[in-house]
Amino acid sequence: MKKNHTILTDTFGRKHNYLRISLTERCNLRCTYCMPAEGIRLSPKAHIMTYEEIYTIAKEFVDAGVTKIRLTGGEPLIRKDAAQIIEKLASLPIQLTLTTNGVIVDKFIELFKKCGITSLNVSLDSLDAKKNTTITRRSYFEKIYQNIVLLVNEGFIVKVNCVLIKGFNDNEIIDFINVTKDLPVQIRFIEFMPFDGNRWNLDKLVSLKEILEQVHSKFTSENILKLEDAPNDTTKSYQIKGYQGTFAIISSVTNPFCDGCNRIRLTANGQIKNCLFSSKESDLLTPLRAGQSITPVIQKTIQSKQKIRNGMDTLDKFKQSDAHNNRSMITIGG
Ligand code: GTP
Ligand code: 5AD
Ligand code: SF4
Repeated sequence: MKKNHTILTDTFGRKHNYLRISLTERCNLRCTYCMPAEGIRLSPKAHIMTYEEIYTIAKEFVDAGVTKIRLTGGEPLIRKDAAQIIEKLASLPIQLTLTTNGVIVDKFIELFKKCGITSLNVSLDSLDAKKNTTITRRSYFEKIYQNIVLLVNEGFIVKVNCVLIKGFNDNEIIDFINVTKDLPVQIRFIEFMPFDGNRWNLDKLVSLKEILEQVHSKFTSENILKLEDAPNDTTKSYQIKGYQGTFAIISSVTNPFCDGCNRIRLTANGQIKNCLFSSKESDLLTPLRAGQSITPVIQKTIQSKQKIRNGMDTLDKFKQSDAHNNRSMITIGG
């Protein structure tokens, strides 16, 4: 079938060929930056996309021009039929990948290989077991770290996501970079972003500028290599000369990268979001279940995408707390 890329092209000419599908709103961790302490109200089970619905929607996107699908959550791997979904999606002509908290990835290694998955992103916010327990409200540090090493040893490309929070883990930036001396992973320092119930404020933010200042105070300029980033990357990436791994910064707050945005998000309850920061959602599940075409909804959603961060184009607008009334991150999937 001829691909209809125009459906996925927005009014700024950005082609949305990267679909992020959240498989579940549930997680086996409780990260403070991702969800409120009291938990979230889960969607009723009947409102969650089934395995077949996920495939049908994904196929529609692939036919329209999507070439990369990332599975997210909550924690995508705790969904009971995660393996079945991964296998089915792997039959599509796409690059398939996941963002996971790493706790149970060891159980999926053979499946990943069978399905042609070559790269995974794993969250790890501290190298200190106690601090990790504080931030995740669960004690799995050893397991996660072992699983990151296991993935590397099994030949996967591994990116480690570290959300920086001032006064909590910003004293670990250099420790994390030192991990890349012998371990060929990419450590990604992420600016803390506001979502419902995560007690964000600008004072907790560790900016791209501050991260680079720390790096420059430890390493000489000639040893800090700037690497090339692909046009749609969220990252600005670097490497310390001679180190096996790399590090990168995801600066959604202080230096957004929306010009190269190629992402569209599908939530576990079948809503699409045209921007991570968009509180407006478009329902695909209801028309799908009614036997109607979902193409017009997709097209309209892409057409209404704003240029930068759902209209929060300055830091001032971003700071206004009512400007980011959005779901909790756990139900978006990053
Ligand atoms: P790659 O596909 O490997 O480039 O990964 P990714 O960085 O897109 O995805 P991942 O799930 O690892 O997310 C890492 C961080 O980047 C999280 O904090 C996400 O919220 C953030 N992120 C991912 N996509 C976007 C996006 O479209 N916009 C913004 N502002 N942040 C994003
Ligand atoms: N700010 C920045 N990144 C976040 N993540 C979750 N919540 C936030 C937040 N408030 C990241 C996690 C995870 C990815 C999907 O999103 O690091 O790896
Ligand atoms: Fe795309 Fe919105 Fe992220 Fe900008 S903030 S890169 S427009 S999803």
